[in-house]
Amino acid sequence: MILIIQDEFHIYYCKFNKKRHTRFAPEDEKCYICRSVKTDTMKNKPILVISTGAGISAESGITTFRDAGGLWENYPVMQVASAQGFAQNPELVHNFYNKRRKELLKAEPNGAHKALAELEKDFDVYVITQNVDDLHERAGSKNVLHLHGELMKIRSVSNPDYIETLDTDHLETTPATRGRNGDPMRPHIVFFQEPVPNIEKAVEIVMSADIFVVIGTSLAVYPAAGLIEYTRPGIPVFYIDPNPASTAGHPDVTVIRKKATEGMRDLTEILHAYVEKHKK
Ligand code: OAD
Repeated sequence: MILIIQDEFHIYYCKFNKKRHTRFAPEDEKCYICRSVKTDTMKNKPILVISTGAGISAESGITTFRDAGGLWENYPVMQVASAQGFAQNPELVHNFYNKRRKELLKAEPNGAHKALAELEKDFDVYVITQNVDDLHERAGSKNVLHLHGELMKIRSVSNPDYIETLDTDHLETTPATRGRNGDPMRPHIVFFQEPVPNIEKAVEIVMSADIFVVIGTSLAVYPAAGLIEYTRPGIPVFYIDPNPASTAGHPDVTVIRKKATEGMRDLTEILHAYVEKHKK
């Protein structure tokens, strides 16, 4: 359903308060440009936007990419995770993601995933994740935007919009895997050298944030690493990571140098204090 309607001058109107907007905002419950909401209960909740990377799933047993012993130490990244690698050796790429799915099947959401879902009581929470696992969803987060695809899905090689979800009894895919429509299928992963289709939506969500939090990413991969540039000036920004990347360009970022579960406990206290302060 589309929340903003467009007039003949290409101006968009918010369906809830009829204000003019210059950008398009497809949303079901809420306009994330002016924050007008559908129900009274959602009114005035601050917008909390969380950008997560592999580190948030590390304590669930999912291997990160660039830490010591990480995936890219053991697999040649351009062979298993690039468009060129897939063209040259699709079997190798399918096998790589088959292994990732097996690893994911054994994993459960950890305290950090659960704490984010819990924050939906007090905040309008949007999770933008570079992760391809489904641990945010399994923890109960309702608004999850995947930037780099989803491990439990496959998509048509020729039509990026044709996507199927794998069932847990048939997780192995090969170059011979066909969709229900007969198309050859590939992992639903954004390979290196491919555009990131959800990045524009992610930027708009970040621009709407009242509070922005980054968790468990080395901030090495763009465009995801650049999302922080789109926060509105002056909003609180936090970065939870036991070994954070440099934030020299962002002196106002509060770094919580801890693992995700522990860091989320600290952040939850800070955020509850924020809610109390803004109630007054
Ligand atoms: P990285 O492996 O590059 O970084 C993981 C980050 O998590 C590091 O900053 C670690 O310090 C931190 N970390 C490790 N353990 C943690 C814990 N318990 N709690 C919190 N943080 C912890 O992973 P990403 O930054 O997510 O893309 O990598 C970005 C992208 O590069 C991935 O989405 C993937 C990869 O290539 C594709 O494959 C397209």
